[in-house]
Amino acid sequence: MLRALPHHSEDKIIAVMAAFQADPRPQKLDLGVGVYKDSSGAVPIFRAVKAAEAVNQAGETTKVYNRFIGYDRFLDAATALVLGPKLATGRRVASQTPGGTAAVHALFDLARIANPDLTVWLTEPTWPNHAAILQHRGIAHRSVAYLDNQDCADIPTFLAGLDGVHPGDVVLLHGCCHNPSGADPDADGWAALAADAEARGWVPMIDLAYHGMGDGLGDDAAGVRFLVERLPEVFVAVSFSKTFGLYRDRVGLALVTAPNVALADRTGQTLTTINRLTYSFAPHPGAAIVARILEEPDLRSDWERELEDMRTCMQDLRLRFAEALRRETNSNRFDTLLRQRGMFSRLPLDLKAIERLRSEQAIYIVDDGRINVAGLTEASIPGAAASIAKEMRP
Ligand code: LMR
Repeated sequence: MLRALPHHSEDKIIAVMAAFQADPRPQKLDLGVGVYKDSSGAVPIFRAVKAAEAVNQAGETTKVYNRFIGYDRFLDAATALVLGPKLATGRRVASQTPGGTAAVHALFDLARIANPDLTVWLTEPTWPNHAAILQHRGIAHRSVAYLDNQDCADIPTFLAGLDGVHPGDVVLLHGCCHNPSGADPDADGWAALAADAEARGWVPMIDLAYHGMGDGLGDDAAGVRFLVERLPEVFVAVSFSKTFGLYRDRVGLALVTAPNVALADRTGQTLTTINRLTYSFAPHPGAAIVARILEEPDLRSDWERELEDMRTCMQDLRLRFAEALRRETNSNRFDTLLRQRGMFSRLPLDLKAIERLRSEQAIYIVDDGRINVAGLTEASIPGAAASIAKEMRP
């Protein structure tokens, strides 16, 4: 029976990560997978995470099941983090998931149960797993150009490209630090998205994996909160992998705003059923760490400080890298790096150039030219900029 299995192509991002790990060259540079690295190249554990984990472990008296929908204290604290205390009430439904990917899955499932004729509209480019998950689920999807020729988010063109969108379709947006481009809508862009969703009846689903890594915790959630205030139905898939450094612990949240309390209840029942049918219970320890950090003022301010340090470090690396590329190429075309936010930007490199950078220079970049800015260091920037500049498309 297994002979009938098709071949699956490897996930491009994880393949780059594995190739980097297997490379013995000491000067190798990983600009691939989206993890935050410190100046020594290590992926650190947050101080607040270590402290909260120790307290949780010392006080743990049982490992009995939680509810299918998740751990209450995590659900409340995480919802308030995303929506702010004012909006985190009433017709909101939150479901704990094993990481952001599972939140994306749960919300696609929810949408398809509610609307069997669902089409999901994606930004082009987007995180490759979005289309892959939809393909796997057999859900219709379409991609719409999202960037202008300066690599900035072009919302009017994107909205014009939603040609044929139906009420009840889902449009998948990125809350902040767009993956892979780092280019986000400004306030006018969010207003135009909200007005269009209101007029045409599509439902925004926001993938929020880098909250706090763009312009700070308040600013980065402004677009999501604006949509939630303005629209009856909004989906948010939240990952805590990057923002708490809990990658392998798998902490995620599927958050839904329903039009009223009765529909919020029904949405909660459906998300409960989806959890039961997939993994029953999301893993507890990481969610309990997040809950404790968000609830306890000292831990929370330490976490916020560390997140802020990461954010400013990435801004600084962007600035230095853009300057180095300006020097190497004698042009200011890379100043867009400074308008983009978070871990990612895309460089105009073709696949051959990306492969040469890997094999000849041990510089690892995802196939679509996405770089993780956090993979750079002050010391590696000059060499990386020189090697990359040589390979740039004109
Ligand atoms: C990334 O985009 O690099 C990360 O989110 C890792 C992944 O799961 O693809």
